[in-house]
Amino acid sequence: MTQDELKTLVGQAALAHVVPGEIVGVGTGSTVNKFIDALAGMRDRIPGAVSSSVASTERLRALGIRVFDANEVGELAVYIDGADEIDGRGCMVKGGGAALTREKIVAAQSRRFVCIADESKLVQALGRFPVPVEVIPMATAHLVRQFAALGGQATVRMQDGAPLVTDNGQHILDVAGLSIADPLAFESQVNQWPGVVTVGVFAHQKAAVCLLGTAAGVRTLDFGA
Ligand code: 5RP
Repeated sequence: MTQDELKTLVGQAALAHVVPGEIVGVGTGSTVNKFIDALAGMRDRIPGAVSSSVASTERLRALGIRVFDANEVGELAVYIDGADEIDGRGCMVKGGGAALTREKIVAAQSRRFVCIADESKLVQALGRFPVPVEVIPMATAHLVRQFAALGGQATVRMQDGAPLVTDNGQHILDVAGLSIADPLAFESQVNQWPGVVTVGVFAHQKAAVCLLGTAAGVRTLDFGA
């Protein structure tokens, strides 16, 4: 199976975790796009979704799924999103699509995080994928030095020759070369640096379950959260 087919497989499998009658939290990315396409088939059984990005909002609306503002609703039963990396405990690196801040907000608002990913995303330890960090532009040079002190090489994510601007009007640093032995401690440490909006390590909002697309079908990893 191709990676695209594996994404379709887990996107469809995630429907089993959507609670009929409840608003669902929706992430961002190519795997989530497969989930959104599948969700259209059950749009009459849910009130709608809370979305983690402008891109997902547009896709949901185009398929006739109502999108609620996060402030309009209370706790969500489930949040479904992809990952750039996931480890054996359900901790993730996210933000390859630059939506990490809103993703973390909707994940925090939800009781369960269901991660959907193809098997290439499963890692022993986080950090092979450069860790995305959303930052206030004024703090960029200082934060590059902070990450260098941890052994990381941070670069500003570019788009069309200029720094990429997130849905929140901020920039992204991609930090390569980090070895993240303790994701919880790393997330807490970087979160409190002035100028950091969100670090793309999801250890406090880790996955409860991962639906992993493999050549043999969907493998469910239950992290007992
Ligand atoms: C977006 C994300 C995505 O979930 C992550 O980048 C995975 O994307 P894809 O499903 O396209 O591989 O965190 O900010």
